[in-house]
Amino acid sequence: MTAHTPKLFVKSYGCQMNVYDAERMADALAPEGYVETQSADDADLIILNTCHIREKAAEKVYSELGRIRKMKQETGRSPKVAVAGCVAQAEGAEILKRAPVVDLVVGPQSYHRLPELLREAAEGRRPVDTEFSVEDKFDHLSRPAPKAIRGRRVTAFVTVQEGCDKFCTFCVVPYTRGAEASRSVAQIVAETERLVAAGVREVTLLGQNVDAFHGEGPDGRAWSLARLLERLAEVEGLARLRYTTSHPRDMDDDLIAAHRDLPKLMPYLHLPVQSGSDRILAAMNRKHTADEYLRLIDKVRAARPDLALSGDFIVGFPGETDADFEATMAIARAADYASAFTFKYSPRPGTPASDMAGQVEETVKDERLQRLQALISEQQSAFARSLIGRRIDVLLDRPGRHAGQLAGRSPYLQPVQIVAPGANLGDVIDAVVTDVGANSLFAAPAGGARDTHREPAEATA
Ligand code: 5AD
Ligand code: SF4
Repeated sequence: MTAHTPKLFVKSYGCQMNVYDAERMADALAPEGYVETQSADDADLIILNTCHIREKAAEKVYSELGRIRKMKQETGRSPKVAVAGCVAQAEGAEILKRAPVVDLVVGPQSYHRLPELLREAAEGRRPVDTEFSVEDKFDHLSRPAPKAIRGRRVTAFVTVQEGCDKFCTFCVVPYTRGAEASRSVAQIVAETERLVAAGVREVTLLGQNVDAFHGEGPDGRAWSLARLLERLAEVEGLARLRYTTSHPRDMDDDLIAAHRDLPKLMPYLHLPVQSGSDRILAAMNRKHTADEYLRLIDKVRAARPDLALSGDFIVGFPGETDADFEATMAIARAADYASAFTFKYSPRPGTPASDMAGQVEETVKDERLQRLQALISEQQSAFARSLIGRRIDVLLDRPGRHAGQLAGRSPYLQPVQIVAPGANLGDVIDAVVTDVGANSLFAAPAGGARDTHREPAEATA
């Protein structure tokens, strides 16, 4: 007789930190026998890994909980339901009140306690664990990442920094993720080496304010992100390094120089500006002007001319006039983005901006968002088209859409579809961009098509 294998379904919303956290949750539950499933329908435990950064995201969670409640009624199944992530952190027990379907609430610092919390939930208690571990924020990260090792993934995230002390007036992160803290260089190097030994070729260093990294180095001193990147570039077998997300105030000259000096550091920078109006930037407490941002980008581009720039924008911040918004359009034009995320301002309870005068009408926000999005998507396709005929390295990281196709990423983070007979996942191949689609590039191996008429024994899986 075989015992029932419990199935876990994690649905993640929001940022890459949550994608990473989903893996940590699966890791914490693996010793309990849980295996992952791709759908809520056959899950024994459903975890909603939530995002609190914008209002809609939290509302989506409550509608999802409504759907789960209905599914339970209709099918008679009774999976346990957990709410994790930043909505869990921010709302805590409030979630239990608003959604009776929820069995437990767990914040980002407590995922290692999931097995214990589940046992409490099984006894009918509805535990809420949203403690910040004050001594060592990264205690829960110090174990290896078994899933990455089991799954033979090609790309992986490594958390190097968490939390934020910047207190932008619109943002909940300083309240939900707590104060800025960095992991030690030794821990980061060890995790990276383990991942690379297991087949990972590209590592993205993660942090809400990753360029504020100041983890303790082997010499007992605080190391900068630039120094950390330099150290990780020495890891043999690692092909690519990336980092996200940066704040303009923390981009120092060493980090800019790293974009010139480290071939493994990809020519891509996600550097949010939020607004192009100095008045709004001040009200947002961003601590820089539009001009300072543009000069900073000039410096990074001088170091790495083919840099693909990405960013975040908020339209309709309280008090934003037509002229302020035109300044945002102007900075987007001047900065020339390869991609960017655009958001309508959404008041988050407890943040200073939510009480500010001059909240902007929804219809005005909609119009501004549309205009900005149109500009950004024009820039995005122009950037993609500029690559046609050019040689790029493609890291193959998954099977392609059609038979014989593989998919990968360009150095600029664009998805690439390629037919490369004989190539394997994890290979970095020299390719020529042949065409652009709506969301991806098409490429062919440089130097012409490879020999496709090999003996079957030679063919790779
Ligand atoms: N409203 C709209 N967008 C927001 N962001 C953060 N907080 C808010 C908010 N209250 C956006 C910012 C940030 C990105 C992660 O989310 O642009 O850079
Ligand atoms: Fe939020 Fe600003 Fe911190 Fe980014 S820098 S996490 S937007 S407070």
